Amino acid sequence: MITVTTIECLRKQTGQARKNGQRIALVPTMGNLHAGHMSLVETARQHADFTVVSIFVNPLQFGPNEDLDSYPRTLADDQARLTAAGCALLFTPGEALMYPHGMENHCLVHVPDVSEGLCGGSRPGHFDGVATVVTKLLNMVQPDVAVFGEKDYQQLAVIRKMLADLNSPVKIVSAPIVRDSDGLALSSRNGYLDAAQRKKAPALHACLQQSVTRIQSGRRDYDILLQQAASELAAAGLHPDYLELREAGSLKPATADSTRLVILAAALLGNTRLIDNIEFAVQP
Ligand code: PAF
Repeated sequence: MITVTTIECLRKQTGQARKNGQRIALVPTMGNLHAGHMSLVETARQHADFTVVSIFVNPLQFGPNEDLDSYPRTLADDQARLTAAGCALLFTPGEALMYPHGMENHCLVHVPDVSEGLCGGSRPGHFDGVATVVTKLLNMVQPDVAVFGEKDYQQLAVIRKMLADLNSPVKIVSAPIVRDSDGLALSSRNGYLDAAQRKKAPALHACLQQSVTRIQSGRRDYDILLQQAASELAAAGLHPDYLELREAGSLKPATADSTRLVILAAALLGNTRLIDNIEFAVQP
């Protein structure tokens, strides 16, 4: 695997791959790769012949009091994992390449509606930062396919809408959440948890799963059900940021007639913000 840090070197490699008739996939990441990321790489390899992974901890998507400085940076380990996984090219642009004139003066990609509420409500500007950096990475790499994880469900919806609205030819493929054996969704932020917090963390998934079971057994009093779930989460030692039921894909508010739903939550454990979701079907 080759690691490149400039657009010229990147384009040289992707240009050669294209000349060889290879389909190119991009997996955008912020590094500190775990099994969840590696499943994205695996998915990319199933959809393309030449897999590019980018690692860039994007300051534009972090709020002023968020974990930009402490976000784990583990390049050597990431390179080893990607090499073993058959990734062809790693692109690790620096901040000066991504935002040469600073972030304040950079144009922003704003995706209305779907980026509002949920994580967008708690993290103002977050999805503008994500949409902007993903647009830049797609323009730099010009892949046929880009792969994103379903753990960041709202992010995936934002990116799908952005590319549809802008008539992008890039095909988006999503990959399912990878979980630890106790149900906790893998995330680089799990590394912030101490042993006691780590023990409590699976309650987030358990709580979502229990709500899904209740709905699939016939409950339709969604407001009361969500309040109950939030209280159960709090009783398990997590501080719910949001816990909501939406229509799958569109993220429109769920109604009693919706047949494909997604339950999404964010919760704080100490200073660590965890997110999770489950998409599921209901009988009308
Ligand atoms: O999901 C992530 O790791 C990031 O939000 C992404 C898509 C790489 C953009 O910085």
